Amino acid sequence: MQLKTQNKIKGPHIVEVLSNIKLSDDTWKLTFQNQEIAENAKPGQFVSILCEDLLLRRPFSVANTINNSFEIIYKVKGKGTKYLSSLRNGESADIIGPMGNGFTIENKNSLLIGCGVGIAPINFLSNILEKSGIKHSFVACSQTFINTGITENQVIITEDGSAGLEGRLDQHLKKIINEVKPEKIYTCGPNPAMAYVSLTAEKYEISVEAALERDFACGTGVCMGCVIQIKDNNKTINKRICKDGPVFRGNEVLWQCPI
Ligand SMILES: Cc1cc2nc3c(=O)[nH]c(=O)nc-3n(C[C@H](O)[C@H](O)[C@H](O)COP(=O)(O)OP(=O)(O)OC[C@H]3O[C@@H](n4cnc5c(N)ncnc54)[C@H](O)[C@@H]3O)c2cc1C
Ligand code: FES
Repeated sequence: MQLKTQNKIKGPHIVEVLSNIKLSDDTWKLTFQNQEIAENAKPGQFVSILCEDLLLRRPFSVANTINNSFEIIYKVKGKGTKYLSSLRNGESADIIGPMGNGFTIENKNSLLIGCGVGIAPINFLSNILEKSGIKHSFVACSQTFINTGITENQVIITEDGSAGLEGRLDQHLKKIINEVKPEKIYTCGPNPAMAYVSLTAEKYEISVEAALERDFACGTGVCMGCVIQIKDNNKTINKRICKDGPVFRGNEVLWQCPI
């Protein structure tokens, strides 16, 4: 099955900030009001946010939609995310989206794995699978506990042992796969974690969809600044994460990172 490409630029929308809550030392959840984005966003898609006077918009996965509002979960990293953490209720933001190709939803027993702020699109997917009555389990791994407020149907793994199972994903994944017996895995997080999930799943012959989160420049498919290499039969081809992704099949990606 081919993952579909559907990447029209939608916006900009001037949206109102409903709340901006700190979830951990460096991780926040922003809720915006906008009916169009809330109605159209699919898990795995992203929005592109103008951060004050910065030339390049910053991309963030949609982490949930509720009625006419949508959420992002973000880690404060540089200027753009610092600006986002300064936004207060009632202020506005300039946002394009939803953009990119989201996850393919199938009626299969699914294992959802979100690492760090990769929890964001996985959280949205979990809510959609729940509403669709599709059996799924949610693994949330992070260095320290990120309190997203989700407690049901979730295995938490923290490296510092602040909640759930202590350790890294690779110390627990095989056991979880053996217990859950998933037919499909969805993942988002740092590349080494997604590479590990994809290679492990391949051994169990389980298909994986991975949402990639590398830095963007234009974010609209023009500059080729986000190219990754994909295996295509016996060839290697270039794909743009912003336009052709961000969701790719895990076994297609040439994971050029240490695991
Ligand atoms: C599809 C997608 C989804 C994502 N979802 C999330 C999410 O849900 N939560 C989350 O926390 N993060 C997410 N990210 C990562 C997030 O976009 C980055 O953390 C964010 O852009 C950091 O912005 P910053 O300004 O704070 O950091 P910076 O490190 O200052 O900037 C980030 C990037 O912006 C570009 N940039 C900055 N300055 C310049 C310059 N002067 N010239 C050229 N390029 C420049 C570069 O690409 C740089 O790497 C996602 C990324 C992608 C691609
Ligand atoms: S960021 Fe420019 S093509 Fe993807």
